[in-house]
Amino acid sequence: MRVLVTGGNGYIGSHTSLALIEAGHDVVIADSFINSKRTVLPRLEAIAGRSIPLHDIDLTDAAATDRLFADGNFDAVIHFAGLKAVGESVQKPIEYYRNNIDSTLSVVEAMKKHGVGKFVFSSSATVYGEKAPVPYREDFEYLQSSNPYGQTKVMIERILTDTAAAASAATTDDETTPEWRIALLRYFNPVGSHPSGTIGEDPQGIPNNLMPYLSQVAVGRRDHLTIFGNDYPTPDGTCQRDYIHVMDLAAGHVAALNHLDKQTDPVRAYNLGTGNGTSVLELVAAFSQAVGHDLPYQFGARRAGDIAANWADPTRANTELGWQATHTIEQMCEDTWRWQSANPTGFPDA
Ligand code: WQD
Repeated sequence: MRVLVTGGNGYIGSHTSLALIEAGHDVVIADSFINSKRTVLPRLEAIAGRSIPLHDIDLTDAAATDRLFADGNFDAVIHFAGLKAVGESVQKPIEYYRNNIDSTLSVVEAMKKHGVGKFVFSSSATVYGEKAPVPYREDFEYLQSSNPYGQTKVMIERILTDTAAAASAATTDDETTPEWRIALLRYFNPVGSHPSGTIGEDPQGIPNNLMPYLSQVAVGRRDHLTIFGNDYPTPDGTCQRDYIHVMDLAAGHVAALNHLDKQTDPVRAYNLGTGNGTSVLELVAAFSQAVGHDLPYQFGARRAGDIAANWADPTRANTELGWQATHTIEQMCEDTWRWQSANPTGFPDA
């Protein structure tokens, strides 16, 4: 299929673009470079062994997005484009709602107008909110996500569900409205890098997330890791999360895309996780093993909004998509370290 990958120059989007190409799909990337560097694409093309068309576009511009679809001849869309820093979203809610919701509305409008009905959405486990029982299952009711970023994911899932429902109920045979088939992929904690070590996670500024912060400590860019709380009700007192290798995540997108023709519900959510919880201290130990020496850390105060533990029930994706996360925590750390040690300051500036 000819697939438009929005945000395809970003961390998960770039790894998924590669997996799509390796699975025989044609990939076109749309990216505004708001959260990724222009030097990612040539590395992607070097791994793929082929050029990959990329449109530098702000998807909140509905007219430009429509023109992209008018010329694009796309069979499907995988939609990653969006701002994704939880903490930043609390400081800049308007920017997050404007960017994440408007860009999605532009894309869905253009899909409807140009008859493209296959859609895979980059959602998040954050839609379950802070009070959901663990492991998370897709049939849980939505709870209030604790931050504007998470709320945009809840709202976008709602937008997509309502759009598909309207088309199914439509009495007028609006000739361009497609038969929607939408997969909502709820990620847990994406980490790791392509085994080549030439592409990986490269957050701009001080990393919010554990793995990139830890790898920057290991490469000497940060003095030490602060572990946000060791008094949680968990075996070692530090928070547990379901870390999933980005290569497994990319494979999950290919599986979901390939399954859309067999998906009976117009919209269906899938957890992409391992089903296992790993604590902060366990991840620090695994990363130290990958690096070959202990890494400096201190315990600090709990971080607002953190919950003690969450992990996925991945049964639905396992059984319906025939997808299973296979990479171990050790492989996640080894692959992250191979990328970070070869690229201490991330991707070069353009
Ligand atoms: C993991 C654990 C921290 C940094 C976030 C988003 C979620 C999703 C994945 C997009 C927590 C601890 C972290 C540090 C630390 N993103 N930590 N020191 O918060 O589980 O999930 O990323 O969909 O929406 O919320 O991931 O990596 O930030 O934190 O001790 O310097 O590591 O307290 O327990 P999180 P994280």
